[in-house]
Amino acid sequence: DTAGGVDRYEITQRPASVEILPGVRTPMWTYGGGFPGPTIEARRGRTVRVTHHNELPVPTVVHLHGGHTPAESDGYPTDLVLPDGWREPAAHDMPGMDMSGGHGMDDPHAVRTRRTRHYTYPTDQRATLLWYHDHRMDFTAPAIWRGLAGMHLVRDDAENALGLPSGPRELPLMITDRAFAADGTLAYPALDPTLRTTPGVREPYLAGVLGDVILVNGAPWPVHEADAARYRLRILNASNARHYELAAVDDAGRRLDLVQVGADQGLLAAPIRHRSLPVAPAERYDVVLDLAHVPVGGRVRIVNLLGTGRTRDVLAFRIVRRAADRSRIPRTLATDLPTWHRTDAVRVRDMAFRAGRMDGGHGWLIGGRPFDPARPDVTTRLGDVEVWRLVADVHHPVHVHLVGFRVLSRGGRAPLAYDGGLKDTISLRPGESAEIITRFDGYRGRFLFHCHNAEHEDMGMMANLTVT
Ligand code: C2O
Ligand code: CU
Ligand code: CU
Repeated sequence: DTAGGVDRYEITQRPASVEILPGVRTPMWTYGGGFPGPTIEARRGRTVRVTHHNELPVPTVVHLHGGHTPAESDGYPTDLVLPDGWREPAAHDMPGMDMSGGHGMDDPHAVRTRRTRHYTYPTDQRATLLWYHDHRMDFTAPAIWRGLAGMHLVRDDAENALGLPSGPRELPLMITDRAFAADGTLAYPALDPTLRTTPGVREPYLAGVLGDVILVNGAPWPVHEADAARYRLRILNASNARHYELAAVDDAGRRLDLVQVGADQGLLAAPIRHRSLPVAPAERYDVVLDLAHVPVGGRVRIVNLLGTGRTRDVLAFRIVRRAADRSRIPRTLATDLPTWHRTDAVRVRDMAFRAGRMDGGHGWLIGGRPFDPARPDVTTRLGDVEVWRLVADVHHPVHVHLVGFRVLSRGGRAPLAYDGGLKDTISLRPGESAEIITRFDGYRGRFLFHCHNAEHEDMGMMANLTVT
């Protein structure tokens, strides 16, 4: 019996030198000394309590992305754990763009008292892959870039009983891109003086920051030694701004199907076969890849069809042996998906995600306004069903905290194949509109919704969601 009870984790946020590129040490900000941070394994119905100690030189706050979480533990961007000796940054500092993050500190090496914060996750939600990351106001993008991200799996008995590939044949895959300087340090545009423009002029970063090295679980272009059998890939795009279109390709250049079994918020009703799968920042796809027919010694590469040169490769499987495989993909995966109908909605809201002027420079805005923690934006009542009509100018992956949603339409038509299931992030493509439907349940309080291009988020594309 796993119901009730508490699982405790303790994580120290601290600077560490991490070997990302072979033989090279990269100074990072870490959860617990490595990148990604430790993977948390949660059981539905059991509370997870994570104690975070902040030994970094900057304020931090932890958000569990996709978590059905009380507001006090949701990681609101101003709900910060401050290091000792911290002073507020000067007003002229460019939000989000300073990688040093140490401004306001008299001496970055001074001994500071350890600051601690408890986060409580009741885990009354469907089994799925969540992730946790920093959510500090104006500085989320550089904090994630520096390493503040980790995975959080929610398990339950129903999912375990399905017989999907498990154990060593289930692989959580956090995909990120990073850029490195010659000495192995992480390169972020704000560190490059040639890109540092006058305050308020932010054009170099408008599209978000991309790297030319693709990392999977912190390793560049890994090759995984695999059995000729089915694998369950728990894909997470934790990149700041890069979109992927993933495909599996064998040595003869043939595509292998990606059989989707789950979305951001857990299992689909039934599997969906894809030839390739677009994955926007913060999205998760739960996919089965069947390597049974690949000869021993052969390879299957997971490539990014949107990439060029070395950003085209993501990871590879090298088949090392034939092996028994008792896994299966049931025709029915889940029967507990919410079935909200348009007619259930008590209100419809329109929201535009577009560029605009902000502080005399360029910003990214929702409904023409940049994020302001003091301003109520969306206020709804606990239990209300709403339809949101979203529209975008360029690519914006729109994420809603607290609840999962379903995609009702895209571009005025039926949703696409990869919009299926319960989502918490929807990839809005340039010039596109979409409708989502959700029910705000579980917890009252102040939450957020925002673009999950992390640089867009820091440049204003975020708003308050208050449940009363
Ligand atoms: Cu992963 Cu508010 O975000
Ligand atoms: Cu989130
Ligand atoms: Cu955006």
